Amino acid sequence: MQNIPEYISEHKDRFIKELIDLLKIPSISADPAFSKDVFNTADSVQKALEEAGCDIVEIHQTEGYPIVYGEKIIDPKLPTVLVYGHYDVQPPDPINLWNSPPFEPVIQKTELHPDGAIFARGACDDKGQMYMHVKAMELMVNTKQLPCNVKFMIEGEEEVGSNNLAVYVAENKEKLANDIILISDTGMIANDVPSITTGLRGLSYVEVEVTGPNRDLHSGLYGGAVANPINVLTKMIASLHDEDNHITIPGFYDNVEELSKEERAEMAKAPFSLDAYQKALDIASVYGEEGYTTNERNSIRPTLDVNGIWGGYTGEGAKTVIASKAYAKISMRLVPNQDWKEITTLFKTHFEAIAPAGVTVKVTPHHGGQGYVTPINTIGYQAASKAYETTFGKKPIPQRSGGSIPIVSLFEQELGSKTILMGFGLDSDAIHSPNEHFGVWNYLKGIETIPYFYHYFTELKTNN
Ligand code: BES
Ligand code: MN
Ligand code: MN
Repeated sequence: MQNIPEYISEHKDRFIKELIDLLKIPSISADPAFSKDVFNTADSVQKALEEAGCDIVEIHQTEGYPIVYGEKIIDPKLPTVLVYGHYDVQPPDPINLWNSPPFEPVIQKTELHPDGAIFARGACDDKGQMYMHVKAMELMVNTKQLPCNVKFMIEGEEEVGSNNLAVYVAENKEKLANDIILISDTGMIANDVPSITTGLRGLSYVEVEVTGPNRDLHSGLYGGAVANPINVLTKMIASLHDEDNHITIPGFYDNVEELSKEERAEMAKAPFSLDAYQKALDIASVYGEEGYTTNERNSIRPTLDVNGIWGGYTGEGAKTVIASKAYAKISMRLVPNQDWKEITTLFKTHFEAIAPAGVTVKVTPHHGGQGYVTPINTIGYQAASKAYETTFGKKPIPQRSGGSIPIVSLFEQELGSKTILMGFGLDSDAIHSPNEHFGVWNYLKGIETIPYFYHYFTELKTNN
């Protein structure tokens, strides 16, 4: 391929400016107050795809937020890459912990990003990473080296469960037909240690409600004589792990895929510093399931975590009260072969069963999805690997991630195609947290690497 670094250095200021403009729109899918902004972001994505050289760009309305579809079919006989990404972002809360406003992007140098990083909600997850694909397309079209067909499917509801995308995919199988799906919505180990994500965990997300007495009570007059829903809820939650931090829900581990000694030894070869990990998080020690390393605990093992817990009096000062209700939001990260619906049922049955007399328990499932593991002996993986080797000068390491993109397993089920996860973010980029950022170097490196994927994939596919 020719002139890729030249094209990027000539246009990089504009590439950055365009991304910054996109990041200024607060496309928070979880909060209805921002609905207009989410719709406006879809329009911006449509315009960007048109300008990048797509021949057809459509906005598909759904019951929720729109899906932006674009395509450039240069020859039906050539392979087709389907790019997926999302333009919605997480809420920026807690907003007071941001060093600059979440929707007023600024570029600042950091230790890991000496060339500067763009600080804004969505910078890495996923506007910045999605936009790399738009700019890579522009580059390939303008330098006349687009080697195959491209389809884009950019949604606005990933952060809230992709429910409408699932419907769209099921109804548009023909239109979305492809040879490989390409996604940049994950991370890599470090800027000098490229890696390709080969797995995602599944997810089951539930909300629980524990009800005791029919009203809030004076904790002196009634304390000790009735069940306190907060005491009970915390005790029930605590019992969900044993002293080795195994999860105690009966049947929870039944289908968990156990990795072989060899596979675990291979995993352990990935560079990792426990000391640096602990320092970065200001913790004196890691914590987790007995018998597994940190990298295993956050990728090949299932987990159960409380994401939020509330009830009773949390205002200024003290109020002596026994609340009528207590609540918690709980997520379970799942691994291959665990079925998320089955796990949700196991949780519900168990949680209801361990409720003591004197309270009632309600479990409400939210959303979930299956995990995903992609083999590395495929043309898609090889093409990605060669692309990284070309632009990073190093072979990338295959690594499973702990995060979830539930729609990926659905893609395989509905469209029959594998997904390649070429993520260019770092774990320290603070996605979903205050001060999310994306390295300028990573952004440009992504734009540089993606065209090579197209090139190698087309080459390998047409020679096989
Ligand atoms: N892009 C993330 C998932 C991710 C990040 C995977 C980094 C691997 C590495 C995605 O936007 C996300 O946040 N997913 C949610 C699940 C979704 C159903 C809300 C998650 O993982 O919590
Ligand atoms: Mn994402
Ligand atoms: Mn996310």
